[in-house]
Amino acid sequence: MKERPAILETSRLLLDAWQGSDWEDLRPIATDVEVMRYISGGVPWSDGQIQDFVNRQAKLFAERGFCRWRLTEKASGEFIGFCGVGFWQTFPEPEIGWWLARKWWGRGLATEAARAALRDAFERVRLERIVSVAMAGNTASTRIMEKLGLEFDGEFENEGVRLVRYAIDRAGYGARPPA
Ligand SMILES: CC(C)(COP(=O)(O)OP(=O)(O)OC[C@H]1O[C@@H](n2cnc3c(N)ncnc32)[C@H](O)[C@@H]1OP(=O)(O)O)[C@@H](O)C(=O)NCCC(=O)NCCS
Repeated sequence: MKERPAILETSRLLLDAWQGSDWEDLRPIATDVEVMRYISGGVPWSDGQIQDFVNRQAKLFAERGFCRWRLTEKASGEFIGFCGVGFWQTFPEPEIGWWLARKWWGRGLATEAARAALRDAFERVRLERIVSVAMAGNTASTRIMEKLGLEFDGEFENEGVRLVRYAIDRAGYGARPPA
């Protein structure tokens, strides 16, 4: 495990910020066609796309104190993916999202990470409203949105792909924090 202080911790995970050199950790995930099915239609990301993503997260954390956190599973010390608030394409609203390496799916880890990231985004960073965007068929992802307390906020189309948007604001979060 890389020695660095976690920003957030859950029972099974450490959530921390990125360094530019971390991009190679993300490569096996961002080039797995199953992971990428509902991101790019299964097209693997190039090294340049992965580097841009990691650099954007490092910059976002430096400037605004949040990002799509890199996730380490505590028991194994393995890097397993990311989860947290960033920006979806060029849209201006903060957006929470998650990608995990396939072997870690189905254990509730994305939900566990997302609960911690959402709480941090509202309570520490004081964001007002957070959205989440997924391709319409990505049921695992929309299920996480519902478990977090986000509510359906409409459908839209981007580059010929049908997407759903869920949303939650700080007042709604405070009134009904996720279980
Ligand atoms: C989406 C993703 C992060 C989920 O990770 P995970 O750790 O398996 O998620 P969790 O276990 O916390 O929760 C998933 C929920 O969706 C449900 N689910 C999973 N696959 C499902 C499916 N095909 N149909 C219906 N529900 C499904 C699970 O049962 C669970 O709900 P439950 O707790 O009510 O049983 C993971 O599948 C992934 O990395 N996918 C590829 C990247 C991606 O698409 N990211 C989202 C982009 S919007």
